[in-house]
Amino acid sequence: MAELVDRLFVHCTELVTLADGPPVGARRGAGMQGLGVVADGAVAVRDGSIVATGPTDAIARAYRAAEELDLSGHVVLPGLVDCHTHPVFAATREAEFHQRCAGADYMAIAAAGGGILSSMRALRALPEAELAARTTQHLWGFLQHGTTAIEAKSGYGLSLDDEVKSLRALGAALAEVPLAARRTFLGAHEFPPEYRDRRDAYVDLVIQQMLPAVRELADDCDVFAEPGVFDRSQSERILRAAKALGFGLRVHADEIQPMGGAELAAAVGALSADHLGRISDAGIEALAHSDTVAVLLPGTIFFLGKPHHAPARRMLAAGCAVALATDFNPGSCFTQSLPLIATIACRQLQMTPEEVLTAMTINAAAALRMDHERGSLHPGKRADLCVLDLPSWRAFGYAFGGNPVALTVVGGRPVLANVAERWPEFFSSGGPRHG
Ligand code: NIG
Ligand code: FE
Repeated sequence: MAELVDRLFVHCTELVTLADGPPVGARRGAGMQGLGVVADGAVAVRDGSIVATGPTDAIARAYRAAEELDLSGHVVLPGLVDCHTHPVFAATREAEFHQRCAGADYMAIAAAGGGILSSMRALRALPEAELAARTTQHLWGFLQHGTTAIEAKSGYGLSLDDEVKSLRALGAALAEVPLAARRTFLGAHEFPPEYRDRRDAYVDLVIQQMLPAVRELADDCDVFAEPGVFDRSQSERILRAAKALGFGLRVHADEIQPMGGAELAAAVGALSADHLGRISDAGIEALAHSDTVAVLLPGTIFFLGKPHHAPARRMLAAGCAVALATDFNPGSCFTQSLPLIATIACRQLQMTPEEVLTAMTINAAAALRMDHERGSLHPGKRADLCVLDLPSWRAFGYAFGGNPVALTVVGGRPVLANVAERWPEFFSSGGPRHG
């Protein structure tokens, strides 16, 4: 007698489970090569969680459900996990993109009062409810690209009130959108103009006032540790103060100029060290011997037109736990597409497609401490799925420039179809929800 479940997803051309590796923990080295691909695969779901995966004929014999969704012609991945994003902003910055296209440098634009400070001015001028509405729009963009869990940072407020406003707007947006999230306070993203000439006083403000004020609004604390922005000792002071309050730690480390940011991240026990375009050999060693996940953001280097991609192959060979993310933000990387990041990672970082898929599922989930629930299709985890309109998982990264995501499933429930007419039974009331 077949066991009753809520829903069956059947006849996936290929089901990428990542279930031949351990369910929990970031994978390293050769552990990033196994994807656990099941041909003609199926997933049985109850109460939003995976009961079993396997070949469709075996799953259909063992389980029955009132609802069955035929995914033939599609490849199914675990819901993608984007472990570094900046979605709380008021306005796009295409004028700066044009300046860069004409040869201007990102840090020079920032030093002249553009960049992060132009986003700060726009955000400060926007009422909280409108900021929440815009953030909600940005969050739907992740679901459109198959992402079901994100890390989301503040960092365009740069005052006590505006950082609180940003994190409250983020909370309101997350309540509207079926995305799992880890919220990060990034008050140390830039020095606001009113503290330009007394930088240590801004560091004091972050430590003494902002961190306690956002303790309930954010899970983690991040710092843009970069020459010309937060120097090593300012970064370390903020990170240690955040740790003492119980925040998880993240660091924008060695992005544009080397500064020992990776070493600092490992030393303070950060969950992740991110960017790493200019990581040193000592930084690679420090990360390889730590639990700090190395989050690579090759879309940013691509979009800024910089020459220094992170040395991914050396990091992988050294045994670093490598994850990939978009860095979605209005300045340095305006995309919510992890499938696009996959293409850039394969070709510019020389990562294998297997490593790339591991880096944006289980390893990204580990960077968010969500690996118990997400990042692979082991029984017991949430039934979050990314359904691709591709002939094979091998076409992930290969197909670029369009959006290969056909359907996004969260907790066993289809929440967004990019081609809604294919699954009318799930979207009878006016088509898919999206921003
Ligand atoms: O991760 N590097 C600092 N922060 C962002 C960019 C923010 C912006 O330009 O608005 C980043 O690239
Ligand atoms: Fe960033």
